[in-house]
Order: sequence, then structure tokens, then C-alpha cells
Amino acid sequence: MDKILIRGGNPLSGSVHVHGAKNSALPLMAASLLAEEPCILHNVPCLHDIFTMDKILTEMGMANDFTGRTMTLDPASVKSETAPYELVRKMRASFFVLGPLLGRFGEAKVSLPGGCAIGARPVDIHLKGLEALGAEIRIEEGYVVAKGKLTGAKVALEFASVGATENLVMAACRAQGVTHLSNAAREPEIVDLARYLNAMGARISGAGTEHITIEGVDALHGAEHEVIPDRIETGTFILAAVATKGDVTIQDASFEHLPVFTDILAEMGADITTTGTTIRARAANGIKAVDVKTEPFPGFPTDLQAQTMALLCTAEGASVIKESVFENRFMQVAELTRMGADIEVDGNTAVIRGVGDLVGAPVMASDLRASAALIIAGLAAAKGETAVSRVYHIDRGYERIEERLAGLGADIRRVRE
Ligand code: UD1
Repeated sequence: MDKILIRGGNPLSGSVHVHGAKNSALPLMAASLLAEEPCILHNVPCLHDIFTMDKILTEMGMANDFTGRTMTLDPASVKSETAPYELVRKMRASFFVLGPLLGRFGEAKVSLPGGCAIGARPVDIHLKGLEALGAEIRIEEGYVVAKGKLTGAKVALEFASVGATENLVMAACRAQGVTHLSNAAREPEIVDLARYLNAMGARISGAGTEHITIEGVDALHGAEHEVIPDRIETGTFILAAVATKGDVTIQDASFEHLPVFTDILAEMGADITTTGTTIRARAANGIKAVDVKTEPFPGFPTDLQAQTMALLCTAEGASVIKESVFENRFMQVAELTRMGADIEVDGNTAVIRGVGDLVGAPVMASDLRASAALIIAGLAAAKGETAVSRVYHIDRGYERIEERLAGLGADIRRVRE
């Protein structure tokens, strides 16, 4: 197991390139199951979660090639409609194969997912939606077994779940007739998925709004598509720049995918500017406390909550963070406290009293975004060394994070434990 060692206090400066979005690439890979010809995805990030999805699809008989950042996926010879527990348990996003398998083959057997330990994360909204499209669903020995020829229907999601919206959009592409989704998730990754599916011959409109209409088609063909930039990776670099009072330019990013987040950073006193696909993040002085509430897009992203908390530990005054998307997503708190943070948690609300400087300490990563928070805290800590263990969590969602931060002047390295 690897550890990341950080000596904080260096203001980050320079330029860093953002990779393709993990949370887009994963459903896009699954969506390729719907095609009957090879598909090509560009700007695919080299991450553990991507390798897991690659393995799931390959085991089903999909012929994949991942060279550089380009992935070719040939679904012509997919034989198995089963996604096994050993792979699905590693990553909740594996559940994305359910909708496309059911849409294309009329049956699917997918293990109930595991994934990050950030709350119960059930899949009831996915399953109710698929049932509304005519699927017969049983749970057998930890597997979802789904069958049926799908028919278009009106489906109102009880919560704007990202994954459920994606699964339903993919399944509905091959349903007979028209599906209307309401209270659909509006994340940029949904828009990216719809663009890819439409390039494959699907008829989807309204993606990016809460009403999505999908007119079912008989077959989908191959397509070539470029994955959107990773907005969470972008936000993490912005926070690292601000936490170290640095000046960092982030290349190939998408400012419009971070609306409320960049407003909140400005409220803290950070200087965030954009030109084309470049974002510059600067903070000359200390930052001010703010109140944050995570919400589905376009609200403040829950996937940047932990990293923002790390920054707010150093702010002037008391901040309040309300986590409204997941329960139990404050796992970074105990570790930040070991670095000198003053945080009080009551249910889904955390009060963070700024302490000025954090102090480096040995800490343990508990999930993907919590580990990014600990790295930001380590970079900001003016004294001591931070040793982040269990870094496999961070490798799920950030590519060679320590090398890229070192390129910005951070004193950070990876060692074998
Ligand atoms: C996706 C993202 C994840 C992000 C989350 C919210 C991917 C691969 N992952 O996860 O990084 O944090 O969106 O922006 O894209 N829920 C139910 N029943 C369901 C489905 C969800 O109760 O059937 C609940 C969940 O427990 C959670 C909330 O809805 O509390 C949001 O979940 P959802 O939007 O589905 O997140 P994911 O798609 O799992």
C-alpha cells in the first residue's frame, strides 16, 4: 500500500491540465453496450475506476482497447449479460451496465453495488424507473435480475439521482415508444451521455434540464466522442491553489460546469477568472468563512464538499456546511481534527471554526473525495509533515495527483508503506 507524504506551506504556482471526467467516462463506456458497432471515446482518464469498468465490459465479451487516452469499445460480440459481484462491489458505477443491457438484450443480471462508504446509497430509484418501463425485476442472492421488452413511459424520479437518470436514459433508448423523465438530474455528465447516445443514433432531448424525452429506436450504431473535462478534478486544483495562497492556471477545464462553486470561492475572497477553457485561481490573502449547502447540479457539488471543508479550516471565522445529497459524508472530519481543525458535526451539518494554520499529521483516507481533502489540508499546513495512507482511494478518481501537484511546486511524494 502506498502513502503520500506532504510538507505544506508552499504556494502552488504554474499550470496544470485537467483530464476527462471519470463520472462521464464510466456511463459512456457502459452506454457503448447499446451499440452494435465499435465506438471510440477520447479523453478517457487513466484511473482505477475506469479499469474496473473496462474489466466488467471485457468479461461480458466486449472487445476494448485503451491506448493513450483513447478507448475503442466493440460491443458486437457481447455474450454475457451478467455483471459479477467481485467486480461490481469495487465500484457503484458498475450498476450503469443494467440499463443498457436490459435495453439491448431484454435481460440483465447485475450484482447490487458497493462503492464509497458514504451512506446507504440504495438503487431503488433505478429499479422503480426500469419497472415503470416494463422490466420485471427480482433480487436473487445479491443480484438484480431484470427481464422484459421495454416500453416508453412517464417516469417521475423521486430524487434527481445522477445514476438513476443515466440508467433510465440508456434503457429508454431501446424502448418501444417515447419515455418522459421528470425531476431528472441535470449534471453536465448527463448532457455528455445524451450527446454520445444521440451520436449513436438515439433520439434524446432535454438533457441538462429536469425533463428529458427519449424516443426509442430499433438499433444504435457506432460513434466517436470526446469526454468532457473533469469538473471535480478542476475544483480540487482550484481549492489546492487557494488553500496554499497560490496562483494556478488550470488548462482544458470548463468554467460553466462549476457555477455555484466558483461563486462561493469568490465569496471567500479568492480570485477565480476564466478565459476560454482556462481557469486561473489565486488567493493573495487569507480567505473568509462562508456557508455552503451541497445540492444536485447546478448547486454546490457534494463531490467538492470535503475538499472545501479542508480549505475552510484555515478561514477567518466560522463556516457552516450542510450536506444535503448524502448522509454520512463527513468522514474527513476526524482526520482533519487530527491536523488541528475545529469542526463540530450535527447530523448533516458541520460547523467549521477557522484555526488559521493546520499542522501536518499522519492521517488515513476513507473515501475518494475525503482523501483529496486530506491532501489539500496537508498542502495548506504550515508546519509538520502529513502522511496520507490508504491512497488507493485517491487513485480511483485522480490520476497521478502527487506528480501533478509537485509540478505546481508542492513538496509531495508517494512512498511504498
Ligand atoms: C453520482 C456520482 C458521485 C456523486 C453523486 C451526486 C458517478 C459515477 N458518481 O453518484 O460522484 O457524488 O452522483 O452528485 O457519477 N439515491 C437513492 N436511491 C437511488 C439512487 C440514489 O436513494 O436509487 C440517493 C443516494 O443514496 C444519495 C442521493 O440519492 O443520497 C444521490 O445519489 P445519486 O445522484 O444517485 O449518486 P450516484 O449516481 O450514485
